[in-house]
Amino acid sequence: MEQTVLADPESYLEFVDEISSWFSVPAAEVDRKLSGERARLIASVELINDRAAAGDRTAFYYQQLLLARIYGMVTTIPHGRNAEGSVVLHEVTRLLEDATLAAENRFIEPGTVEAAPKEGKAFLSWIKGLARSHRVFKHPYYTEFINQHAQADDLRTYVIQESLVDGRFDDLLAMMQIGTDGPSKLEIASNFWDEMGNGKAEEVHTHLFNKIYEVFDITADEMESAMTASDLLAGNLALLLCRYRSLYPEAVGFLGMTEWLVPDRFTNVIRAWERLGLPDVGITYHRLHVTIDSVHAAGWFHNIVLPSATSDHMRHGIARGTLWRLNSSARHLDERLEQARAKNSSDTDRKV
Ligand SMILES: [Fe+2]
Ligand SMILES: [Fe+2]
Repeated sequence: MEQTVLADPESYLEFVDEISSWFSVPAAEVDRKLSGERARLIASVELINDRAAAGDRTAFYYQQLLLARIYGMVTTIPHGRNAEGSVVLHEVTRLLEDATLAAENRFIEPGTVEAAPKEGKAFLSWIKGLARSHRVFKHPYYTEFINQHAQADDLRTYVIQESLVDGRFDDLLAMMQIGTDGPSKLEIASNFWDEMGNGKAEEVHTHLFNKIYEVFDITADEMESAMTASDLLAGNLALLLCRYRSLYPEAVGFLGMTEWLVPDRFTNVIRAWERLGLPDVGITYHRLHVTIDSVHAAGWFHNIVLPSATSDHMRHGIARGTLWRLNSSARHLDERLEQARAKNSSDTDRKV
């Protein structure tokens, strides 16, 4: 097998660009053109996955970048036929997705998921307990850095980095709703309707989120290059869990925990915004979510988690999704805090 490929960061990017270049080609044509290339492509993706699993940060970044680009393609309405549905592209996607989840599973202490209580209310308290005792809960990135030290450019970067989840939360809900019924379907529907600003275009949450881009003059072009591997992973994990029916329990845990962590986190963002005297229009989204996401989380736990937690399969999946969210978010915030501290100390050095 050819191993010269992926010898350096440029060759990773070339490979990711090569696959991205098929996106605008109709699926059947992609598969026809690549029929003789399959072995090389699969071997390259496996190499990226193996290196990422072994701790290679460059490989991890390009693994997540490729997956993020594929997800961008499958969640955007194209101007013509595209590669959605290509068998080869699906194979590449599945390899990336499996490797992404296998990596998350390695962060779960063996036996944790299996320790989930069987009774509904006890299960719910246990899930909340997992979060409260987790280092991600009231993480110093929010409670100290964002709250007390972040400057306008830090908030600007923060908003870009959060866009892969906040910027498409409505689509995530729409995808995960398929196949549900009863109180779960209703809860997702009412959460979705809130996302839609309860029918008022100017209050649609993604529209309010985009208002922050205007404050900071953020353009579409700079989005991808501002993302770290962990930013990409956060968006990829959310989309991955919502798009497959077989990962529904994990999506329940993952999105429920996402909602539950928001009010506390956003209180710190609002504090920073007010401390810096930034334009009010940019903070509406966060102000709204401090209140609404505590309602969403309570509704989610009561109407989705409780009625779903009826079998070990469901409870373990919900627990796994919860832990994927807590663990990945903790690593993400650790990394951001470290970067913020490094930046602050280099700013201080320059002043001395
Ligand atoms: Fe929202
Ligand atoms: Fe929400």
